[in-house]
This record gives sequence, C-alpha cells and structure tokens, in this order.
Amino acid sequence: MIGLAGVIVLLALAVAACGVTPQTTLNPTTEAGRATHSLLLLVFWAGLAVFVVVEGVLLYALVRYRRRRGDTLPRQTHGHTGLEIGWTIPPTILLVVVAVMTVPVIFANAEEPGADAVAVRAIGHQWWFEFTYPDLGVVTANELHLPVGKPAAISVESVDVLHSFWVPALRGKVDMVPGRTNVMTIVPEAIGTFRGQCAEFCGTAHALMRFTVVVEEPAVFDAWAQRQLDDRVPPSTALAKVGEELLQPTGCVACHTIRGVSEIGVLGPDLTHVGSRGHLASNIMDMSHQNLAKWLRDPTGVKPGSFMRLPRPLTEDEIEALVEYLAGLQ
Ligand code: CUA
Repeated sequence: MIGLAGVIVLLALAVAACGVTPQTTLNPTTEAGRATHSLLLLVFWAGLAVFVVVEGVLLYALVRYRRRRGDTLPRQTHGHTGLEIGWTIPPTILLVVVAVMTVPVIFANAEEPGADAVAVRAIGHQWWFEFTYPDLGVVTANELHLPVGKPAAISVESVDVLHSFWVPALRGKVDMVPGRTNVMTIVPEAIGTFRGQCAEFCGTAHALMRFTVVVEEPAVFDAWAQRQLDDRVPPSTALAKVGEELLQPTGCVACHTIRGVSEIGVLGPDLTHVGSRGHLASNIMDMSHQNLAKWLRDPTGVKPGSFMRLPRPLTEDEIEALVEYLAGLQ
C-alpha cells in the first residue's frame, strides 16, 4: 500500500514537472486551433464515457457471474435483439454527433483566405524550414514572422521528402509533400513567439527540424520585412571583415546566399540576415557567439545527419572571424 502511494506521489510530481510545454496542443491561440481543440475534447469525453460504461459492465459481469464451485454450464444465448439494438443505436448516435460536429470544422479549416492575406511559402528541406514571402520578396529560414490579426496564406511545400508543418499553439499539422502544394490559413490572434516542429519522420535529424513563429504588431512586421530586403550589413569590425573574406575560400557561399556577397548558394538557408534570428541550426540552439562557434566547429556533432559540410575543419581563428561576421548580419 505504501509502495502504491509512493508511485502515485512520484507520478503526480512527474506530471507537475511538465509545466513548460512549448509544444502543447492544449492551448490553441487561434480560432482554427480552438475549433480543432473542441473536437478533441468532444471525442475525449465521449471516449471516456464509453470506456467507463464498457469497463464497468465488464467488471460487474466478471465479479457477479464468476465461476463458483459446483456451477454447471449456464444457459447459452445466441442472438438477443434487445442487446443488439442496445449496442448498435447509441454508438451510431455518438458517431453521428461527432461527424456533425467535425464536418463544419473541416470545411472551415479548408477555407481560402481573402486577397489581403500575407502570402508565405513554407518549404521543407532536410532538415530546416525555408520561408519566402512572394509578394514582399523576403527570403528567410527557420523563423516565420507574421503580423497579428491578419490572415496568413501559407503554401506548404517540400523540396525533398515528406515533412509536416506544425505549430501546435496556432493550428493542426499540414503535410509538406514533394511535388504538391498544400495551403493552410493562420490568423494569429496573440503576439508572441511560438514553437514549430516538423511532424513527419523525414530522416536522421527529423527531431531537430524546428522553427519559430514570431507574431508581432503589423508595423513591427513591416519594419522586419523591410530590413530583410536589404543586402547584408557590411562588416563593421576588422575581424568581421576577415570573416567575410573567408566565405569564398571556406566554401560557405557554395550553399548559402548572402546578398551583397554571393547569391549562388541555394542548398542551405539564406544567411543575409542570420544574425537577426533568435536561433540557429533550425532552432536547436539560441543565437549566440558561443553557439555559432560550436556549430561551425562541428555541425554534424551538434546536429547528427546535417548536410552542412565543411571542405576542411576550420581553424579556431577562422571560426572566431566567421562568428563575428555572421552575428553581425542583422
Ligand atoms: Cu522534416 Cu521531419
């Protein structure tokens, strides 16, 4: 008995420890998210009720009609109209209720936004997210900015394998399918930063394929978009200048575009404003000099499977210069 009480206390503590849950699906902050959430609750409570009734009847029958000494075989029943109706009609009614509640949500979720929506292409890569704003000309990675209160029409695509676009606090998942464009509308209601995650197994670094959605005031969003259009900020220190000069010999620009320096690299994220992002390496680390250095020293050690390849290991001096330069790309 004491053992059982101990287990219960430990479980309660474990559950209480789950206070920080950036990827919880249980706190939707949009209308579409709340509509889906209400369906989850409906099915959950209905399922719980069915479970309690069925298990209750089962337990009652197990105890009440258990075999006792001297029992003979009871009367065998084959077919019972009352029972058959009893276990057919209520489940049917329940399923009809679930369907009637679900269908309008499916249609509402599939509704196309108006022409004033912010158009975004979300493109899945192994293992990072590219975000482009075709009407604004902005190209960025792993950090999606959206103005609050305005619908965003997000074209969800992939260049290689199946991924899935998922920001639990905003809406349900939409698959990123190579050769196909799925569209989802998000109307963010709350200012803040929300965690996104690839939700379809896509290879080695699937679990480390994350992104952030930054929902901000329209004016702040406009200013952000405007800054993103600029070419890279020229290096402001001698060390950063050395960093920029290293981009060619180290091969960085073969995969990465840094507008104002080179635009041939399209395999990796656009780095023109990488220093302005809150995270790096598809959001597995906060943006800092220390983490940039860690990343440049050993990308596949930090993110197993990463396609970030260095033609040769960088020296510590080179890393220092590149970090100074990259962090300055605001
Ligand atoms: Cu991309 Cu999992």
